[in-house]
Amino acid sequence: MAASTSSISRLGFRHHQPLVPNSGSPSQPSGSVSFHSGSHCFYFKPLEATRQLQLSRISVVVKAESRSEEMQVDTSLSPRVTAVKPSKTVAITDQATALAQAGVPVIRLAAGEPDFDTPAVIAEAGINAIREGYTRYTPNAGTWELRVAICQKLKEENGISYQPDEVLVSNGAKQSIYQAILAVCSPGDEVIIPAPFWVSYPEMARLADATPVILPTSISENFLLDSKQLESKLNEKSRLLILCSPSNPTGSVYPKKLLEEIAKIVAKHPRLLVLSDEIYEHIIYAPATHTSFASLPGMWERTLTVNGFSKAFAMTGWRLGYLAGPKHFVAACNKIQSQFTSGASSISQKAGVAALGLGYAGGEAVSTMVKAFRERRDFLIKSFGEMEGVGISEPLGAFYLFIDFSSYYGAEVEGYGKIEDSDSLCRYLLDQAQVALVPGVAFGDDSCIRISYAASLTTLQAAVERIKKALLPLKSAVPSFFYR
Ligand SMILES: Cc1ncc(COP(=O)(O)O)c(C=O)c1O
Repeated sequence: MAASTSSISRLGFRHHQPLVPNSGSPSQPSGSVSFHSGSHCFYFKPLEATRQLQLSRISVVVKAESRSEEMQVDTSLSPRVTAVKPSKTVAITDQATALAQAGVPVIRLAAGEPDFDTPAVIAEAGINAIREGYTRYTPNAGTWELRVAICQKLKEENGISYQPDEVLVSNGAKQSIYQAILAVCSPGDEVIIPAPFWVSYPEMARLADATPVILPTSISENFLLDSKQLESKLNEKSRLLILCSPSNPTGSVYPKKLLEEIAKIVAKHPRLLVLSDEIYEHIIYAPATHTSFASLPGMWERTLTVNGFSKAFAMTGWRLGYLAGPKHFVAACNKIQSQFTSGASSISQKAGVAALGLGYAGGEAVSTMVKAFRERRDFLIKSFGEMEGVGISEPLGAFYLFIDFSSYYGAEVEGYGKIEDSDSLCRYLLDQAQVALVPGVAFGDDSCIRISYAASLTTLQAAVERIKKALLPLKSAVPSFFYR
């Protein structure tokens, strides 16, 4: 066993003498390793072998026994925490917010939330819920009223039939997705995730002790999964395929034909389930249309459909999402939720009923927002499309552009250093242009950066100007074949 002064000091022992391994003594607890330092003797007992934890990943101590009088605290963390990457989108958003609070005029295009207010009718329903004393725990799975409304919506808009006990309402789609992964994956199972992906999918798989298997896609194919590539990666460990359409971060929308091809492949693997994240379904630009994976022949039985209110209804802070699927899986998620958070906010659920009452696909309130998103998307595609060395796909939904700026990598900027990847480019743009964007590496594609266009056209115009100006000194890196 290796222990070092640094691992010990993490535990809060205050000493400055080097630790020397002992060969063992009669008073030493069995199975432990001891070290002495000055007059103190420390015993370290490893975690039981069955947990197969790597010593390098953990602070080695479960139980530290010392004859020292000092208070001892084991500050080791679960290996789960060590394995998980913090969300880059959250980190950049926080950094940009801190800069803005310090008076720096940062344009924030990193966050994944609509810039619109929650439509008034929905907000009123929430306010009325409070006024009417609708402030108690609801059933764990969500109110009957809301689940019935969700079933109606799924039937009318998505062509999929569910009963209320096949729907579980949660505190946001994020919780729905995590619970689904926890409920169906055993340790070592594979979760198939096409890249670019929403940042949380691989980390959630890791938290569930499953293995994320990333399938890269290319900008030339509009970041859509190649069904042959999928087929070649499936095996008996494959448990869950995650599809996200319209996609965060690329805006790609899976055409029905491709989903049908994928469904045929999925059908050959009895263990394989599909989590279909449809949270951006209403933010879609005609003629593109949304297809729910569960509506395809044979797929209802193996699909967990996730949706939520955050994006289409501008309700990010209300924390409301849901999962629909076969009762067996939904009941398992329900059980996890019952020991985790219980039901979603009673107030938000009332607001959710009002949101679903706005009409087909959210009615005019949603279509007005989608119209604005479309205008912004068109503006950005035109503006960046004019630039040399920039690759853009055709985003047909959501409110993100995933742009390939990799031809600018390699440039050296005086006083700044080398721009070598999406991370350094985003840091440079935050410093020089004061525009906050998210590096593509967070989404599994280092050649791109994500621009969220959940901001007014005027703000976007200013952002484009700043980005173009800041990129000028980097132009030397762009190969000449990019010049028109
Ligand atoms: C693809 C995708 N799925 C799920 C979520 C989670 O949404 P919610 O706010 O409902 O938890 C997000 C939020 O950014 C998302 O982009």
